[in-house]
Parts: sequence; structure tokens; C-alpha cells
Amino acid sequence: MEKQDYSEEYLKTLNIPEHVAVIMDGNGRWAEAKGEPRTYGHTVGSEVVEEMVEIASDLGIKFFTVYAFSTENWKRSEGEVSVLFFLFSVYLKKLIDKSKKNNVRCRIIGDKTMLDDELNAVIDELEDSTKDNTGLTFLIAINYGGRDEITRAVKKVFGEVKKGDLSIDDITEDVLTDHLDTKDIPDPDLLIRTGGEQRISNFLLWQCAYSEFYYCDTCWPDFDRDELIKAVEWYNKRDRRFGGVK
Ligand code: IPE
Ligand code: IPE
Ligand code: MG
Repeated sequence: MEKQDYSEEYLKTLNIPEHVAVIMDGNGRWAEAKGEPRTYGHTVGSEVVEEMVEIASDLGIKFFTVYAFSTENWKRSEGEVSVLFFLFSVYLKKLIDKSKKNNVRCRIIGDKTMLDDELNAVIDELEDSTKDNTGLTFLIAINYGGRDEITRAVKKVFGEVKKGDLSIDDITEDVLTDHLDTKDIPDPDLLIRTGGEQRISNFLLWQCAYSEFYYCDTCWPDFDRDELIKAVEWYNKRDRRFGGVK
């Protein structure tokens, strides 16, 4: 894509979505098209994530969520899965210092019980050391599945009912929302999927009830600032009615 020259004045006229979520797809195909192993796509993809966090923050996005590993991605070869987890470990360690510097608050969503102790320790340090940061909130979905998240939330709610802390009549949408991994995070306004596919692949099923879905053919390793702005421009053309009439 030809580089655009977006002026600061122009960007100020855009309605910036508060929460942008991204299904970062196409790493493997991008690498294979270059005659490289799929894992090369993941390596470059993780560098793009690093850049995108800063770009999203500069644009004024308040919440940025990326889908890094789904509950279904364990079906991949052992080699690919182990490279992905190696990259998560390297990336999250780096993110500790970077987030302190950039005032970014980080949270990992997904079932962390399946991750090893070492990675959990890095996650704890990252979340704890950035929890009071007041800039962009950055969520990374690792071993995340929307159905799994809802199932875990239902179990937690049921546990409270069983203990007598909650009655069945008190269960509302807000109660369910408060038991999800995304507790206290507003729903995504804009959901971007790169890599040409147009499906949700078990991402944020509850939270995307009224998100605007933007698809692009660009594979994640080629995604850049211009592509993100293009998605925001598209978002600006949407008329969000939330079931009402305008
Ligand atoms: C997305 O890229 C990254 C993860 C799912 C971890 P893919 O690895 O799915 O790349 P494609 O879709 O096979 O090209
Ligand atoms: C979705 O991509 C998961 C992540 C980006 C982490 P997939 O590549 O796993 O999705 P499908 O298999 O094409 O639906
Ligand atoms: Mg894929």
C-alpha cells in the first residue's frame, strides 16, 4: 500500500474508537509466501504488535486488545506451539520495561492455568508492575476462547450461588460481564481481522455483541499505522444504532 501522509489536523477530526480489538491473522501464510517457515511470520508479527501498541496509544485509543493464541491453537504442531510460547515469554519480559516507560497498563486474558509457572510468573510481574499506569490499557489474549471464558464465568457465578453469596434472581448480564476476564474493560468498538478471513474464531464472543467488524486482506506482519488509520476511517463511516432507530 502506498504510504499516506495523514496530518495531525486530519487525525484530530476522526472519531477514535475507545477500544480496538485485533485478530492478528495471516502470519503463517505471509511467511510461507516468502518461502520461510510459518514461525518466521510469528517472529515478525510480534514486532508489529510492539509497534502497534505505541501507534494505538498515539492515536488516542484507550484500550487495545490482541488475540495471540486461541484455545484451539493447541491443535498446531508441537514445534509451532513451542515457538509461539517462546515468543510470548520474550515479548512479555520486554513489555515489562517498555510499559513502565510508556505508561501502558497490561493484562493477559484467557485461561492461564494451562500456561507454565515461568510464563505465569512473567505475567504476574507484568500485570502487577503496570496496574497503576494511566495510559493505554493493553490486553493480550493467550490461551483465550470466548466460549471457554463464558464457561469459566458461569462456573464462578455458580460457585457464589452455591455459597449463598448470590441468589439466582440476582444473576444479570452485568453480573456475567463482571466475571469475565475483561472485567472493567469496555466492549470493543472496532474489531479488526487481518489476513483475509471473515470469521470470529471464538474471540470475545460476549463482548463483541455490538462491535463493528473490519476485515482486511493484509497479513498481520504487513499491518502498519496506515492500515490502522484506514480501519479507523472505515469505523467513522459506520452508523451505530445498538438496536435503536436514528
Ligand atoms: C495468526 O497467524 C497467529 C496465530 C494464530 C497464533 P496464523 O498462524 O493463523 O497464520 P495463517 O492464518 O496460518 O496464515
Ligand atoms: C485466530 O486465528 C486466532 C488468533 C489470531 C490467535 P486462527 O488462524 O487460529 O483462526 P482460524 O483457524 O483460521 O479460524
Ligand atoms: Mg490463521
